[in-house]
Amino acid sequence: MDSYLIRGGKRLYGTVTAQASKNATLPLLAASVLTEEPVGLRHVPDIADVRNMTRILQGLGCKVSWQGDTLTVDSACADTCRVPRELSKELRSSVFLLGSILSRFGCAKVSYPGGCDIGLRPIDLHIKGLKALGVIIREEGDALHCDGSNMHCGDVMLDFPSVGATENIMLAACKLRGETVVRNAAKEPEIVDLQNFINALGGRVSGAGTDTVRIEGVKHLHGISYSPLPDRIAVGTYLLACAVCGGKMCVEGCIPEHIYALLIKLRESACKIEWKNDKIYIEQNARPQSVHITETAPYPGFPTDLQSQFLTLASVSEGTGIIVENIFETRYKHVAELIKMGANIRIKDRIAIVRGVKELHGAMVEAHDLRGGAALVLAGLNARGVTALHGVRHIDRGYERLEEVFQSLGADISRKTVKE
Ligand code: UD1
Repeated sequence: MDSYLIRGGKRLYGTVTAQASKNATLPLLAASVLTEEPVGLRHVPDIADVRNMTRILQGLGCKVSWQGDTLTVDSACADTCRVPRELSKELRSSVFLLGSILSRFGCAKVSYPGGCDIGLRPIDLHIKGLKALGVIIREEGDALHCDGSNMHCGDVMLDFPSVGATENIMLAACKLRGETVVRNAAKEPEIVDLQNFINALGGRVSGAGTDTVRIEGVKHLHGISYSPLPDRIAVGTYLLACAVCGGKMCVEGCIPEHIYALLIKLRESACKIEWKNDKIYIEQNARPQSVHITETAPYPGFPTDLQSQFLTLASVSEGTGIIVENIFETRYKHVAELIKMGANIRIKDRIAIVRGVKELHGAMVEAHDLRGGAALVLAGLNARGVTALHGVRHIDRGYERLEEVFQSLGADISRKTVKE
């Protein structure tokens, strides 16, 4: 049971490098099942979600090995279409495996997925999409039995541009004869990365990044070595930390365009922010100004995965800011903890009204989900006094040794491990 001890009030100075994207890496790992040849992923972050995904792949019979930060998956020996129940529960991305397992074996058995506790997170769009490709799905308790023996290409219209459903259908369709079309597809950069990856394996996918993705089935996919995208959410978290604490920072190895929505909001909050090629420079010398209204939306809108951290910024900004969470139902779980630290926040359904305070104070708080946990780290870095943050395991799901990143920037943060 790890926790963080943070002595706040230090400004942050230095350069950090973006880790590879969690949300790009997970579907690429799922896609590695599509070929019987080895797939190497370079610069993979050592985070709990990746470790859990590799355990699921091993459960399917794949061989998984790490060499430094290169992760190789060899699924030549994969021999079962069943994902063990306890592993499906750990990780929502296990549902992305439905598409690739169906493609590989013609059948799939998974349990309803777990993942962050930030709302209902149903999988009806995944199921509807797979049914449109001829998959017969039977639910038994929390288990899904999928029969893909008569799968065919198809036309899928998503009711909402779900990231996971778009990816799942892309994976299911890559080896089906003919063209599958996904309409109202998600446009996130991770979808483009999955397209690039499948095409590098020898697939034929086009349109990713627009609302219509076309997948033309191919007979054979081969192994490759590939570097996933930089993590735009981790990059955004570092920038927001600088905005919250003050200081001067450069984040390198990133794609600024992927977080344009945040960069513009940071300018509105009076940060000096510039970007060139793969670097973003941020400087914050005065108290941040509140941003009138910020609404989360599918890409290229403001990412829901940065809403919690942005709420910490609003908590210490001058003036009142309104945040509207449009993607997930219960993404304000960390607000009660921020209030313990002196924040002035009122929640009404999906709206947060945040009256900025000059300074937060340290407290004993608990992370309940990944991004909410990161938001509490940022709050602790700003706060006067000591913050003890429990539930660091949620943060470890998506950030690679977050404490070391902030230590390198001059923050006073340490990890305490208490044996259970
Ligand atoms: C992915 C990201 C997650 C991010 C989210 C939105 C990964 C591993 N996770 O999650 O970090 O917060 O995109 O950018 O890439 N929905 C349904 N039915 C479905 C599927 C989704 O109603 O079948 C709803 C969800 O409950 C949610 C919304 O659609 O309200 C968005 O979900 P979706 O885009 O699917 O997110 P994920 O793929 O789960």
